[in-house]
Amino acid sequence: MIIEIDHPVARDLLTRLRDRRTPPSEFSRHARSLGYILATEATRGLRTSPRVIQTPLEEMLGEVCPDQPVLMVVLRAGLALLEPFRDLLPDSPVGFAAVRRIESTAEPVWYYDSVPETAGRRIFVLDPMLATGGTAESVVRFLRKRGAGQVTVVSIVAAPEGVASVRKHGDVAVITASVDRELDSRWYIRPGLGDCGERLFSGLPDSAPASGPAEATRGGGSAR
Ligand code: URA
Repeated sequence: MIIEIDHPVARDLLTRLRDRRTPPSEFSRHARSLGYILATEATRGLRTSPRVIQTPLEEMLGEVCPDQPVLMVVLRAGLALLEPFRDLLPDSPVGFAAVRRIESTAEPVWYYDSVPETAGRRIFVLDPMLATGGTAESVVRFLRKRGAGQVTVVSIVAAPEGVASVRKHGDVAVITASVDRELDSRWYIRPGLGDCGERLFSGLPDSAPASGPAEATRGGGSAR
């Protein structure tokens, strides 16, 4: 299942994120705001259980979400979505995967992970830029080996190639604000929004020239 958010505020926020003039402080605020919309959609199917409560006026039967899915953050750009998901799911355990891409092949190489118990649990993989899908797919494979339950990949922007890669695992859902046109020759999403990690954390208002992405190589690869 792929869900592309259809919401005017999401389109507004995404346009601001795409705009190269948006400075880092606003970029992270807009990403967080869009994260709440993505998190609301991602959690739509969570089960609830009844709870009797007293309002100031009378007793009533309310509903609470007893399950706390695991939040799996793909570093570093995934941090942009963590706060909105934690606000909605405050008791969810949080895992991290740091995956570097070999620039010449876009192959994902893991260099750090910290993962809570995932067996049988629902998982939200927070990976804002689903480009080749190599990173997200390797995270999904890793989680599957650990017996994870239903997995949903949450992205701000996805490329068709990334969606196809993740969807090789037929039961994995993808939620995104946009499936963009294509990947370019350096595996940037077009039209995209540039290097999400750089725009969030480098302090540069504009880290991806229109003619092509800025270099993102550090130690033989990039962790966007
Ligand atoms: N990661 C990014 O930050 N941007 C892209 O376009 C692709 C991957």
